[in-house]
Amino acid sequence: MSNNHTEWLEFAKNIALKAGAMMVDARKNSNVVRDYKMDHELVTSTDIAVDQFICGQIREHYPEHSILSEESSPHMDLNAIAEEVPVWVIDPIDGTVNFAHGHHHVAVSIGLYVGNERILGVVNAPFLEECFWALKGSGAFCNGQSLSVSGGQQLRKALVATGFPYQKTALLPIIERVSRILHHCQDVRRNGSAALDLCWVAAGRLDAYFESVKPWDMAAGVLIAEEAGATVGHYLPATSAWPEVVNGEGLMVSTPDLFEELLILIG
Ligand code: IPD
Ligand code: CA
Ligand code: CA
Repeated sequence: MSNNHTEWLEFAKNIALKAGAMMVDARKNSNVVRDYKMDHELVTSTDIAVDQFICGQIREHYPEHSILSEESSPHMDLNAIAEEVPVWVIDPIDGTVNFAHGHHHVAVSIGLYVGNERILGVVNAPFLEECFWALKGSGAFCNGQSLSVSGGQQLRKALVATGFPYQKTALLPIIERVSRILHHCQDVRRNGSAALDLCWVAAGRLDAYFESVKPWDMAAGVLIAEEAGATVGHYLPATSAWPEVVNGEGLMVSTPDLFEELLILIG
C-alpha cells in the first residue's frame, strides 16, 4: 500500500460522507426534482448536484486524474483505465428509484483504478448511516468494523440478491434466470442498489449477488466484496468494450463455496 493510496482513500471517504449529507438534506428540504434520461431512466436533481460536487472535488484536488462518472462523463476514453493515470469511477446516487420514493437503501459509490487494478472503493449509505470501504490488499470495512463474507456453502440456504434494468425489453432472460435461482436457494432479494448489494455480500448479509450492471454501479463495491473474501466473476461473456476490471456485464459475486454451483445455474 503506498502513501498515495491511503491519502486517496481518506479523500474518497471524506467526499462520500459529504455527498451523503447532500442526499439527506435534499430529502429533508423536499428539494428533489425528478427527470428521465432516454425517456425511461429516472434521474433526480440530487443525482446531478452530487455528481457535480464529487467531480468538482476530484478536479480541484487531483487535476491530473481522469473521471468516469454516470451523470457527467459516462463515455470517457476506455484506454485510460489501462494506463498509469488514476481513474475515478463515480455513481453519485446508486438506488435513484429508492431515493425518489423515500426509501433508505441508497448510496454514493466511488471507486479508483490505476493500470487495470482496483485500488480503492467507498460506498456510503447515508440514510442507513453505514459507510463501507476497502483498499486493495488491506481488507474491507463498514464504519471501521472489518468485514468478511458469510461462509455460506449450501445454495438451498443462500440468500441471493439481483436487480433489473430500466430497459424492459431485456427482461425475459433475466426473469428466467431469477426463476432458476429461486427454485434452488432460500430466497431472492431486489434491494435496488447494486453498490450496496455488493457491500452486503461483503458483510455476510447476502450470500451472493448477480446482475448485469454498468462500471459505476460496481466499481467500488466489487473491491469491497473481494477484500471481504468473495469470489468475483461473470456468468455472461463480455460483449462491451469496457476493460475487464470494470466490466459489470453478467457480474456474479458470492461466497467461494457457492460460486461454481451458481455459475452453472445462472450461466
Ligand atoms: C441502479 C441500481 C439497481 C440496479 C440497476 C442500476 P441507479 O443504479 O444499482 O440496483 O438494479 O441496474 O442501474 O440507476 O440507481 O444508479
Ligand atoms: Ca447505479
Ligand atoms: Ca446512479
